[in-house]
Amino acid sequence: MGSSDDVKIGVAIYDFEDSFIAEVRDAIAVCSEGDVPVTIVDAAGRQQTQNEQIEQFIKDGYSAIIVNSVDRTASGVIIEKCRQNDVPLVFFNREPVKDDMAKWDKVYYVGADAVDSGVMAGRIMASYWLSHPEADRNGDGRMQFVIIRGETGHQDTELRTEYFIETLLSAGIMLDKLHEDTTRWRREEGYDVMASFLNRSGDAIEAVFANNDDLALGAIEALQERGYFNGGDFIPVVGIDGTPTGRKALENGTLLGTVFNDAENQGRAAYRIAKELAEGRVPTEEVIGYSITDDRYVWIPYSPLPGKAAEE
Ligand code: GAL
Ligand code: CA
Repeated sequence: MGSSDDVKIGVAIYDFEDSFIAEVRDAIAVCSEGDVPVTIVDAAGRQQTQNEQIEQFIKDGYSAIIVNSVDRTASGVIIEKCRQNDVPLVFFNREPVKDDMAKWDKVYYVGADAVDSGVMAGRIMASYWLSHPEADRNGDGRMQFVIIRGETGHQDTELRTEYFIETLLSAGIMLDKLHEDTTRWRREEGYDVMASFLNRSGDAIEAVFANNDDLALGAIEALQERGYFNGGDFIPVVGIDGTPTGRKALENGTLLGTVFNDAENQGRAAYRIAKELAEGRVPTEEVIGYSITDDRYVWIPYSPLPGKAAEE
């Protein structure tokens, strides 16, 4: 089906346990059906494992490699290794620094603009706050909020947090950040962190921003145990991703809103670029079906997803 027998693509994933990444992974697998085959491996959160997996792909004669790096600052080493063996690379979701991207012209990045997601999440929270005076529970004219961060050093953690806050401030909302803590994007960590915030500040917390949906869902669980939702008080929680479970929470009125992170298009773009490179062509916008900026970047747009509670 348009590809020679010996062409194959390796896919190195940072952690199979990550919900959003699992969706991208599925999208890549679907694209490869009846086309250039892929082998997908899990680094389970260890960069050393991932380096070995990539070396193995090179030894086994893979024609291109898609990488979701464990530690994005390790991308330089991966690029150097692949350049020496002329195996092209497509990174996605965990963005290599510009200097690394500049090391070789057979390196691409597919991602979504973290700044946009922070702004969109901030707008959902701002519009709720401004139209619901009762959300200011202690009536002091300020929003006492908490942040549940993703991984330290991840572009999404840093920029989502920064632009969420910046968007609230430019909407004229006065803020008091009560707590902020770092996690690894997982629901159980969202639960633990929120439970500890509640132990420390209890009902003083008026709003929650979680850097992704899994963290937001964990936070909601902790809030429910404390009597919020299901007939109790509502507290605005905003996430990012729009995963299937996140969308259910939009529907049942617990999650105030989220921002759709388009896994399917990120997976498809990464696959199509890798296929072109694997078959020895320079990817063009016409063939891959996505615009390419700065020569080797493809940006898939975010979009806001307000939930049922945001409409009330
Ligand atoms: C983010 C996503 C998170 C997590 C992370 C992994 O873009 O929102 O849920 O998947 O990537 O790098
Ligand atoms: Ca207040």
